[in-house]
Amino acid sequence: MPTTLVTGAAGFIGSHLVDALIERGHTVVALDDLSGGFRDNVNPKAKFIEASCVDHKRLARLFNEHAFDYVFHLAAYAAEGLSHFIKRFNYTNNVIGSVNLINESVNHNVKRFIFTSSIAVYGKNQLPMREDLTPAPEDSYGIAKYAVELDLKASHEMFGLDYVIFRPHNVYGERQNTGDKYRNVIGIFMNQILAGEPFTIFGDGEQKRAFSYVGDIAPILAESATHKGARNEIFNVGADAVYTVNELANEVMSAMGVETEIRHLPARNEVVDAWSDHAKVQRVFGKQAETQLSEGLRSMAEWVRATGARKSKPFEGIEIEKNLPPSWRNA
Ligand SMILES: NC(=O)c1ccc[n+]([C@@H]2O[C@H](COP(=O)([O-])OP(=O)(O)OC[C@H]3O[C@@H](n4cnc5c(N)ncnc54)[C@H](O)[C@@H]3O)[C@@H](O)[C@H]2O)c1
Repeated sequence: MPTTLVTGAAGFIGSHLVDALIERGHTVVALDDLSGGFRDNVNPKAKFIEASCVDHKRLARLFNEHAFDYVFHLAAYAAEGLSHFIKRFNYTNNVIGSVNLINESVNHNVKRFIFTSSIAVYGKNQLPMREDLTPAPEDSYGIAKYAVELDLKASHEMFGLDYVIFRPHNVYGERQNTGDKYRNVIGIFMNQILAGEPFTIFGDGEQKRAFSYVGDIAPILAESATHKGARNEIFNVGADAVYTVNELANEVMSAMGVETEIRHLPARNEVVDAWSDHAKVQRVFGKQAETQLSEGLRSMAEWVRATGARKSKPFEGIEIEKNLPPSWRNA
């Protein structure tokens, strides 16, 4: 039975991944600092460790205690738009935290290191985003993800650490933190409905995205630990169907069975259109069924209604106030 470390395991995607790995017979150690995740997301069959990837001494002890076969590194602060304003925190958490894990994985001969990067590495005007394009990230979050990708490649060449890199996009579904005002537009919309507030959309709402159901992603991540064709490869992963944010707003209203008002906020500086090509992941892992947006939203809406509205916590420690969208100012 392989022993597998999952970081960010109390988070949204991480907790679904833990379930998928346990189903496949892995013994899972689930690590999370609970900065953005929830303890009750974690499958009770996993061993839970509350710790931060930034704490390299704690990681060293953990790797001495367990002989990990595989490491899945999902822990990150993933508010892409906010990352411009919290550069130091972003690079410490998302780059140094990752490097600490890479060091331990090299020193303990981990068989494969699986990393969730993001389509944020591509930047703008690279459509459809394909794995063979040269990344040109435009924000600190994307830059951090790309730095870790490059370090994984270097660590493979220098030390033989095998890796798999996934670049997911706009993942949604049950257990997402709907109380995070800085990210996850679907969760934000659903939370606004429960709170009786209007939807807020940055700009005219014509920006395009493809929304990926978590149940379609987690099994592919889990498979990648041992999949021969995935070794040292980079994959886009997620849905093909593209929607504008305005279209999405209508889909969310119908999933929640509620009509609500839409309030447009000033546009923020973001990549306007983002969707990616999935031919490679389909070639290697086989064509997977894609959950329709309406169907995925219905399942998420059911869960959201059962869990109730979540209060958004402001991010403490904004480093740059200049150009910060007014709705993100701490009030
Ligand atoms: N959700 C998406 O649409 C999406 C898209 C592309 C990439 N990703 C990547 O997938 C991964 C998971 O994203 P998610 O949507 O599940 O986010 P999430 O916020 O729900 O999960 C991240 C988890 O990491 C934990 N964490 C953060 N910093 C940590 C640290 N230093 N040490 C230990 N734990 C820490 C948080 O507490 C949280 O539980 C992230 O790496 C994210 O960048 C997500």
